[in-house]
Amino acid sequence: MSTLATEAAHTREASSDVTFSVRNLWKVFGRNADKVVGTELEGADRERVKKETGCTVAVRDVSFDVRPGEIFVVMGLSGSGKSTLIRCLTRLIEPTAGQVLLDGEDIGEATPQRLRELRRRKMAMVFQHFGLLPDRRIIDNVAYGLEVRGTQRSERYARAREMIEMVGLGGYEDSRPGELSGGMQQRVGLARALAVDPEVLLFDEPFSALDPLIRRDMQSEVSRLQRELRKTSVFITHDLQEALKLGDRIAIMRDGEIVQVGTPEEVVGRPANAYVADFTSDVARTTVLTARWLVREPYPDERTDGPVTAPGTVLAEVLPMLAASTAPVRVVEGDTLLGYVGRDDVLRAIAEDQLDNAAAVAAIEEEAAEVLSEAAAAHSSGDAGGSAPAPAGSDA
Ligand SMILES: Nc1ncnc2c1ncn2[C@@H]1O[C@H](COP(=O)(O)OP(=O)(O)OP(=O)(O)O)[C@@H](O)[C@H]1O
Ligand SMILES: [Mg+2]
Repeated sequence: MSTLATEAAHTREASSDVTFSVRNLWKVFGRNADKVVGTELEGADRERVKKETGCTVAVRDVSFDVRPGEIFVVMGLSGSGKSTLIRCLTRLIEPTAGQVLLDGEDIGEATPQRLRELRRRKMAMVFQHFGLLPDRRIIDNVAYGLEVRGTQRSERYARAREMIEMVGLGGYEDSRPGELSGGMQQRVGLARALAVDPEVLLFDEPFSALDPLIRRDMQSEVSRLQRELRKTSVFITHDLQEALKLGDRIAIMRDGEIVQVGTPEEVVGRPANAYVADFTSDVARTTVLTARWLVREPYPDERTDGPVTAPGTVLAEVLPMLAASTAPVRVVEGDTLLGYVGRDDVLRAIAEDQLDNAAAVAAIEEEAAEVLSEAAAAHSSGDAGGSAPAPAGSDA
């Protein structure tokens, strides 16, 4: 048998380069802001700080890294400090304390001139309310950042046309923003941000004003562009589904603090505390957790000839495979066998966040057993030689 290489799953994360490095960042709004950080009030909750100083702690001692090419999602309820945080990254809001490094450069030390340059060349922002110039044609809106930069007319129009094409708006170059739907206007916002070829894209709830269907379209669009362009992105949302769909990693904010940073699987599969667990409790775990999450060494005497699947296969797709086989699935990446995932592993993963609740566990197991036996029935009717598995809820 080949050597197990569960470690391979983590090597991708071993890279040490970082686009944004944020350390102990604070933003306190109010006239006595300097009387909070570094004082006895530092550890006090928002209410107490408000009562004693009149200040609002919008961002509290936040530290995280954003890696090149990833979509880093910041999620949290209204008022949790998301917009303040993303604006501190570019110093559109001046942090009260802490450090932001962009490619190793300390943003806090940048002169106004350098800051302007960084905002024009390295970073571009996409806002919730599009922020288009109503009297200008689409092409001029998209070319705006280049115009500010002093790029020649023919060059900036060529680039703008390319971007308009890229976001699927070819033919609308001469229209005005008011003639476009919300979703189309947000595509213009996206094209405008991309036109300056920034290294980093910052999104502050860009789709929350859109209808659900158009919103889904736009999410797919961002996913696609991200795959093609590999721009580092910080994406703010209060929508968990959006976070799970787009995020390589997700930071969850509460009352100005980051309470967990992790991949969608980590956040859903291993919530850091009850708050995150509550946040993610409505998610269908089988659609987020993947085979990679559950992979393990084989047990002694366990069969090792089960069906093969890729590590990224979600459990919802692993379940029917397990139903059709009495052996655990083999998780294989390229030529490497990462390990095995069996029925009990999947059931346990599905039930894990409900462990305090015996009734819920029973219900989930029952449901899973049903899925398994249905799939097994479908399978055995098409394959006489297949061995029908026992219902998954029964004890081994
Ligand atoms: N300019 C300001 N002056 C004073 N307080 C502010 C200011 N901007 C934000 N706040 C306060 O800071 C806290 C965080 O606000 P922020 O806008 O960052 O939250 P958010 O997570 O983006 O919320 P939403 O989802 O509603 O956009 C809130 O309590 C807000 O009232
Ligand atoms: Mg906001």
